[in-house]
Amino acid sequence: LPDARFVGRVNCDSIEDLRSTLTLLRDGRVSFDVLGIRLAPFSFASRFGVNTGDPAQFVELSAILRTAPEALRLGVHFHCAPTSVGSALWLQEVRSMLRMARSLQDAVGRSIVEVDLGGGWRDASDPHTRSALLEAIRAAQLELRSLDTVVLEPGKSIAEPSMAVLGKVLQIRHGSPQSVVLSIAVSDVPDHSTYPHDVWWRSQKTHEWRPLADGRDQIFGRTCMENDIIRFDVALPAEMREGDAVAILNAGGYDSSMSYSFGRGAEA
Ligand SMILES: Cc1ncc(COP(=O)(O)O)c(C=O)c1O
Repeated sequence: LPDARFVGRVNCDSIEDLRSTLTLLRDGRVSFDVLGIRLAPFSFASRFGVNTGDPAQFVELSAILRTAPEALRLGVHFHCAPTSVGSALWLQEVRSMLRMARSLQDAVGRSIVEVDLGGGWRDASDPHTRSALLEAIRAAQLELRSLDTVVLEPGKSIAEPSMAVLGKVLQIRHGSPQSVVLSIAVSDVPDHSTYPHDVWWRSQKTHEWRPLADGRDQIFGRTCMENDIIRFDVALPAEMREGDAVAILNAGGYDSSMSYSFGRGAEA
């Protein structure tokens, strides 16, 4: 196909996507090896994926897949960020998705040979993450006997630890709990509410960087937003002073990509 763009793998997000992808393939406007179908999660709502829990959609999906060219490898695709739902619920969803994939391959009469488990991982070296991933891969092998490829999308786990946001302590507010206002704001770390970001502090006296321990004190951002609270569960050190440097860690990935300029003032 001289004009076709070869893209290796295509994951279709809906039945409409699948139809138009197969039309593009038949028209020679695209070429690929693997046709993946994104399956929607079962125990919570998602705007992504085919809802195979709905019998009508399951039947329609299987009917279209039966018409797919024989040369294509079939796959299923799934993404539901373990950082949002926790790895236990993630694993439960993966198991449900794999059972559905097995029913799908039986209904289509063709093997599913690839499973894409998506991304949304925090730290790939974390033992809970590793054991959840290993269990998911084992479950996939047991459920889909012709499986030869498992795809993982480790974007977040690679990007997240790659950046920190540096700022200063603008004001310390004494009381119980104590709070501190930083020159950093929610607009610099918009993913702050998904999980508590580690915060490090550098004293002007000792020039030493130290992590803040967990506690009951709060860290506010500099803007007028009511929700500009970066942490509400840290222990602020008694030696902290206005002007000290502060770093919010793990600000790569969604923080850096979604940060916005609100409250930043004129660029120097
Ligand atoms: C299919 C798929 N893979 C991966 C991701 C993101 O993964 P990560 O946050 O690890 O980059 C998303 C969306 O967030 C997605 O829809």
